[in-house]
Amino acid sequence: MTLLIVDNEKCKKDGICAADCPTAIIKVDKDEGPKIVPGGDTFCLRCGHCVAICPHGALSHQEVPLENCVPLQKERSIDTDQAVQFLRSRRSIRFFKDKPLDKKTLKRLIEIGRYAPTASNSQLVEWTVFTDKEKIHDIAGQVVDWMKEILKKDPQPAYAPYMPMIAGAWDMGFDAVLRDAPGLILASAPKEAINGLVDVTLALSYLELAAPCFGLGTCWAGLLYGAMRSHAPIRKTLGLADTVPFYYPLMIGHPKIRYHRLPERKAPKIVWK
Ligand SMILES: Cc1cc2nc3c(=O)[nH]c(=O)nc-3n(C[C@H](O)[C@H](O)[C@H](O)COP(=O)(O)O)c2cc1C
Repeated sequence: MTLLIVDNEKCKKDGICAADCPTAIIKVDKDEGPKIVPGGDTFCLRCGHCVAICPHGALSHQEVPLENCVPLQKERSIDTDQAVQFLRSRRSIRFFKDKPLDKKTLKRLIEIGRYAPTASNSQLVEWTVFTDKEKIHDIAGQVVDWMKEILKKDPQPAYAPYMPMIAGAWDMGFDAVLRDAPGLILASAPKEAINGLVDVTLALSYLELAAPCFGLGTCWAGLLYGAMRSHAPIRKTLGLADTVPFYYPLMIGHPKIRYHRLPERKAPKIVWK
């Protein structure tokens, strides 16, 4: 069975699909139209470029069917200023309303996250979602306990000067680790994902950028990540097998605050060659 399904009435045999195929496995026969070269199936990335680029809607793919590839709606495109403001207005949210999260909305966000690129289109990113505030608070407590163990041996760790402050804040009832977030999303990828941490990061970035459109805000949970990397029991609490090498957690919830300006950043360092 061939991976490509060609509608010969619509196909103009213009070769656009073949020219764009990232692994160059499509050849266009001037009578029969596009075909995958013998043995080419193995190299197909299932990226859907051939389906997406055909202006005639003439091509479908067994694993990326035409009917699942929605047409691009030009009127929904955003202009440059809108794109710049959209990207620059993304903020880390550290204050959340005490409002439970709706699983349907979280599922929609994850659905958006899965459209982020993955190396070789591997699509191996997996998701674990916590929506129990007490459980999340418990995870933050375990991070603080881990920090306190470190502080017993080294009260001012040079590599993590913030630790005494975070542990002290916790003792005063302030969660500086997970910010009393009502939700925590852990994206992970198995060792088979050759660029797993990049895939995970991009998927979470897509989710993070989309979150405000659903009334939600996020913050990368770097302190929890640090604890997960060096302390297996915390990974276990999050239900992450030791064999899973790539992961990152993200706090999520309804923002309690709102920003009115776009903060300035350092000028980029660029080397033109
Ligand atoms: C990988 C990563 C880890 C982070 N970890 C934390 C964290 O543990 N706690 C926190 O409050 N902010 C965390 N942040 C948020 C950064 O501090 C924030 O992105 C930066 O200060 C810029 O602010 P902005 O995101 O609002 O533009 C993290 C951000 C990234 C990208």
